[in-house]
Amino acid sequence: MDQPKRYLVTSALPYANGLKHIGHLAGAYIPADIYVRYLKAQKRNVVYVCGSDEHGTAIPIQATKEGTTAQAIIDKYHPIMEQNFRDLGIEFDIYHRTSDPLHHETAQEFFTMLNNKGDLEVKETEQYFDEEANTFLADRYIKGTCPNCGYESAYGDQCERCGKSLSPDELINPVSTLSGKAPVKKATKHWYLPLDRHEDFLRKWILEEHAGDWRANVLGQCKSWIDGGLQPRAVTRDLDWGVKVPLKDAEGKVLYVWFDAPIGYISATKQWAKDNGKDWRPYWEDSETKLVHFVGKDNIVFHCIIFPVMLKLHGNILPANVPANEFMNLEGEKMSTSRNWKLEMQDYIDDFIKKENGGTQLADVLRYYLTQIAPETKDSEFTWKGFQDANNSELVSIFGNFINRSMVLMHKLCKGKVPKLHAAGLTELDNATIKEIQSAKERVEALLEEFRFRDALFEVIGLARTGNQYMQKKEPWIVAKQQGEDGQPTAQAQESIDNTLHICLQLCANLAILINPFLPFTARKICHMLKVVDKMLEWENAGKLKLLSVGYSLRPPELLFRKIEDEEISYQLEKLRSAATTRDDAATPKEKTMEENIQSATSLKPQIVFDDFAKIDLRVGKIVSAEKVEKADKLLKLSVDLGFETRTIVSGIALHFKPEEIVGKQVTVVVNLAPRKMRGIESNGMILMAEDPSGKLHFINPEDVINPGAGVS
Ligand code: 2FM
Ligand code: ZN
Repeated sequence: MDQPKRYLVTSALPYANGLKHIGHLAGAYIPADIYVRYLKAQKRNVVYVCGSDEHGTAIPIQATKEGTTAQAIIDKYHPIMEQNFRDLGIEFDIYHRTSDPLHHETAQEFFTMLNNKGDLEVKETEQYFDEEANTFLADRYIKGTCPNCGYESAYGDQCERCGKSLSPDELINPVSTLSGKAPVKKATKHWYLPLDRHEDFLRKWILEEHAGDWRANVLGQCKSWIDGGLQPRAVTRDLDWGVKVPLKDAEGKVLYVWFDAPIGYISATKQWAKDNGKDWRPYWEDSETKLVHFVGKDNIVFHCIIFPVMLKLHGNILPANVPANEFMNLEGEKMSTSRNWKLEMQDYIDDFIKKENGGTQLADVLRYYLTQIAPETKDSEFTWKGFQDANNSELVSIFGNFINRSMVLMHKLCKGKVPKLHAAGLTELDNATIKEIQSAKERVEALLEEFRFRDALFEVIGLARTGNQYMQKKEPWIVAKQQGEDGQPTAQAQESIDNTLHICLQLCANLAILINPFLPFTARKICHMLKVVDKMLEWENAGKLKLLSVGYSLRPPELLFRKIEDEEISYQLEKLRSAATTRDDAATPKEKTMEENIQSATSLKPQIVFDDFAKIDLRVGKIVSAEKVEKADKLLKLSVDLGFETRTIVSGIALHFKPEEIVGKQVTVVVNLAPRKMRGIESNGMILMAEDPSGKLHFINPEDVINPGAGVS
């Protein structure tokens, strides 16, 4: 296949509303960075763009939590995120931001063109309005009870407990988070992108043309969206934070964040072109450009369906591929910012990279492990033990070990210089190893071209493994014992040693080239030891056996990787567990303050009728046993005698009561609450508790001893 004239690679623009975790890193940034480094090593024309997504309700919501302004939030997180990426070796050509005026202009021009061509529809609908705050409410500003699981603090767009996508209309008893009042419905006008008009195009373009080259998970998600019936999507919002809708009759309206954010890729390209004296247009307009979007699973629909429709209407090229990953879980659970079940890039940088001298080897260790377990085809799992094993058993024992042994033996047995290759003395094993070196390039290359980063990395480590086996079989340190009368190895022995170490050193140079896209810091460190310039890392050099000149003296070896100790792993596990909140405590303390305001005495929950109350089955129970739940500081597993049966109930009270204190206590239990799993334990009911203003919990129990199972009404 002909090579594209140029590449434009994008990674999802992360919201500038907080620190990003390794799930984000593994999904959209590390794979893109590997791909780009590979393309650049191939000397292809490639631009890699990213930037902060600074609009949407996520930003003002974070501002409320931190008691500051939306502008202050983006100005705080944008530079931190940029630096985090840099520390982990993610090398964008530009890290832009959507608050930049160039982006606002670009997004407005895009909207105007579509609107002028009649590609958008205008509709008036009824939306929730907060009369006290005098504003329409974005989905995230409405909370209520989830119709799916009964969680009382579900958002208007999603329930954070059961994960179901919702619309505000589905919430039971919706409440505005701004005033705590029930919102009213009010008419408002919005612009819609009529996706339904583009169904045929999408079906053909995705499900036919890309059936053979897009990942199955991506095709599957697209198919179910298309089959589910495409609807017009509102591309404007009533909000005062974002890109203003560029029309006279659109006062107080901004572009929906998912309309403007992907246009951020275009404005980033424009800024890059401006900074580098280039023309941005061919990157978005010439069909010989290969556009590749790297995103996480939750962004698939936006990059495969909505943005492509926008691009087509606007006259741009379409993505050639969207190699989206599935989710990466952490120690058995879904990563979650609200539950604090995550490893932030910043934490990793502080705990591992900054503590090291120079630090970069540990950036590469994380890149290595996240690539090795990349959720390319299905969800995967980050465990600290797995991280330790990947480092100790592969990077230290295989890759680092091979490079180190080659260097040490070369210094010891070849006077610190690259030894000669004596062609006449080459053995079958020498020749087979040379062939392996020559063929590895093609294998790695083919996998990288197909976005199979895990497999490509496996090939590179496989080559280092081959090197170790080769060295082990050739045993130059034993051969060196075949000495003449002068106490030096015999000529024949030295020939064998020279051949072995010559091949090993050329293999080291090859490993530097092949590992470079994955572990760029390591590749440079190898170049330093081999006293070669970084130019050697160009891809065309892979497979060559003359990368190091004979007689060239090399630097002393430095360890590429250090062992990661058990204590470091236990520290991380402890840190993860003690920082985590239970699902019931998903809100951060600051969020709680906001919720307390909402539910304060002046804004009681909306009235219910008797029938609503009668649905709740309350009984008296007696706690017969209580124990701590492993890995959850706040949870106790209780057995509660209800007279008619004894139930397991998981309750978030462990910080308030010791298990032994509460055995025998009478409690009031909601017995007909749908079962729910917490830390793998099914909880069948809920214990009622009162919380005093200091935050202390108290049981709600009858004064007298009553038989378990008695009804409460
Ligand atoms: O999911 C997210 O974090 C979004 N901010 C991604 C946007 S990607 C692109 F469209 F900009
Ligand atoms: Zn729910």
